Amino acid sequence: MRIGLLALLIAVTMIVPNLILLESPITGDDIIEIIGIVIIGLVVNLWLESYETDKRHRQMAYLRLESAQRELQRMQQNLRFYLKQITLAQEEERRRIAQELHDDTAQDLIAISRKIDGFMSLHPALTSPDEAYLEDMHQHVNRTLSSVRRFSQDLRPSVLDDLGLIPAIEWLVPDLAQYFKLNIELAINGTIRRFPPEKELVLFRIVQESLRNVGKHAAASHVWVMIDFLPQRTVLTIKDNGKGFHPPDRIGDLAVSGKLGLTGMQERAQLIGAKMNIDSIPGQGTTVMVTLPVSSTSPDHPY
Ligand SMILES: Nc1ncnc2c1ncn2[C@@H]1O[C@H](COP(=O)(O)OP(=O)(O)O)[C@@H](O)[C@H]1O
Ligand SMILES: [Mg+2]
Repeated sequence: MRIGLLALLIAVTMIVPNLILLESPITGDDIIEIIGIVIIGLVVNLWLESYETDKRHRQMAYLRLESAQRELQRMQQNLRFYLKQITLAQEEERRRIAQELHDDTAQDLIAISRKIDGFMSLHPALTSPDEAYLEDMHQHVNRTLSSVRRFSQDLRPSVLDDLGLIPAIEWLVPDLAQYFKLNIELAINGTIRRFPPEKELVLFRIVQESLRNVGKHAAASHVWVMIDFLPQRTVLTIKDNGKGFHPPDRIGDLAVSGKLGLTGMQERAQLIGAKMNIDSIPGQGTTVMVTLPVSSTSPDHPY
């Protein structure tokens, strides 16, 4: 109402002297002028008020947006924290199961196999069907032992903990090449450097999952695994000449349909400060590339 009141005040200051001094009577033109000024004042006032209300609304909306953004950021941080905890717990569980399989189950199977062996040598006069039966059982136990060892290595290769990333990949590549009947070429360029165990584990899991994806989905004849140790970064590339696919804009969207491999790889990469890119075109193969900058906080060091 400020401007409206001002307009009224102006109008009054124009009328009052006329009324008091009675120098000249108020004409119709004067009244129209006064009403005009008052109307303009009211209109300006109305416009200003709506402008201020608008401004207040905009400020409130901006504050609400800011607080929603803060909440979203907090939720994302929480989610990342939980994800990290889940990944750590999963890795710990895998390590424990792998160790138990290796230390207990495998040792028990070895003992059973030896007992069958021993029994057969102590009883040379067994009937042929009995001998065939025991021999079959012996082979069965040995096959189970191989599967248990394989499963245990798959869960957590001891070579990764004992010798590090490169020996672990050098073990993994021929193992998966044989399993999936793939031709995999491994190239390691530059001066090899070591990373803290959690980073080596993530890089290993990415190579493992990428190669499994090639074996499961790509129908490829050739795969290239390259690790380039550059002065400022390490680049890991897994490239195949298979059928390719249309990766979604956000890899995380795959998780909705229960496909957790690529999402897990991307999340793990983020956890160690690496960036993962998936490049795939139907009919032209797939390339997974992970870039890990040389860290200033947790020093990487040469072998
Ligand atoms: N190297 C590849 N070649 C062709 N398709 C692939 C490749 N890697 C991944 N894909 C496609 O991406 C999908 C998601 O992969 P992933 O998240 O690992 O889930 P999953 O392996 O359980 O299906 C796969 O189902 C497949 O269609
Ligand atoms: Mg997969």
